[in-house]
Amino acid sequence: MQKLIEEIKKTSGDMARRGWAESNGGNISLRLNSENYAYLNEFQPKSGWTQLPVAMPEIAGERFLVTGTGRFLRNIEVFPEKNIGVIEIDQKGEAWQLLWGYEPIGAPTSELPAHLLSHVSIKQKSNNQSFAFIHTHPNSVIALTYAVANLDTKSLSRLLWQSHAECVVVFPQGIEFLPWVMAGSMDLGRATANAMSRRNLAVWEFHGICGCGRNLDEAFGRIDVAEKAADICLRVMAAGGAKKTLTETQIRAIAENFNCPFDESLFD
Ligand code: 13P
Ligand code: ZN
Repeated sequence: MQKLIEEIKKTSGDMARRGWAESNGGNISLRLNSENYAYLNEFQPKSGWTQLPVAMPEIAGERFLVTGTGRFLRNIEVFPEKNIGVIEIDQKGEAWQLLWGYEPIGAPTSELPAHLLSHVSIKQKSNNQSFAFIHTHPNSVIALTYAVANLDTKSLSRLLWQSHAECVVVFPQGIEFLPWVMAGSMDLGRATANAMSRRNLAVWEFHGICGCGRNLDEAFGRIDVAEKAADICLRVMAAGGAKKTLTETQIRAIAENFNCPFDESLFD
């Protein structure tokens, strides 16, 4: 358990120090595959079963480390057992119970629908190799959703690919843009999971970003690069707008050089 706690402490601490996690903003989940975390079999349930809003048989029996609702990511380093928990999904994928954490009392993040439904998507698309999902509130990504009119998945993906030469390598499938939907809702959860079935990043208009990866470092890294590109983009706008930019030909060449097939339809 200590190794797992150290892993999440690193990610949550980095997120807080980046300024991505004001107050209780942002949440993290990690699917715990039974081979690496067999010791969880010995844990006694700490709660009864709570019904999930929709059945998810694809993740039946899975266990997840999930940050607590209302808890501050910056406090995970100090009191991990209070701010994070391990939940287990039942054998039908219809309910969850608590195995560890949320001391003395608490519950998983209010964004649990987006997390669990996205885990269904990423488990499937990665052939069971993707375990991490992060939602967070980085300034520049959010600011960009106010500063640019008529953003959509194509324009956002191209804008960020053009703003930093290595973006196309880090997120070759681009970034899904999701128009504002109520935080914590099933609609937001479904839209995010749908986005995660074809991309590794999704921006929530006026709110934040989500990223997935094989592990927390990969999910964090994707968000970090997108946020950096958004920051560069805003600085260029503040400096009077781009006088030149990476061309489509150059972006294609970068993708080819790094042997990285990208979503060509975003250039249509
Ligand atoms: P929680 O405190 O429920 O995790 O919510 C934070 C958040 O970022 C909602 O979008
Ligand atoms: Zn949020």
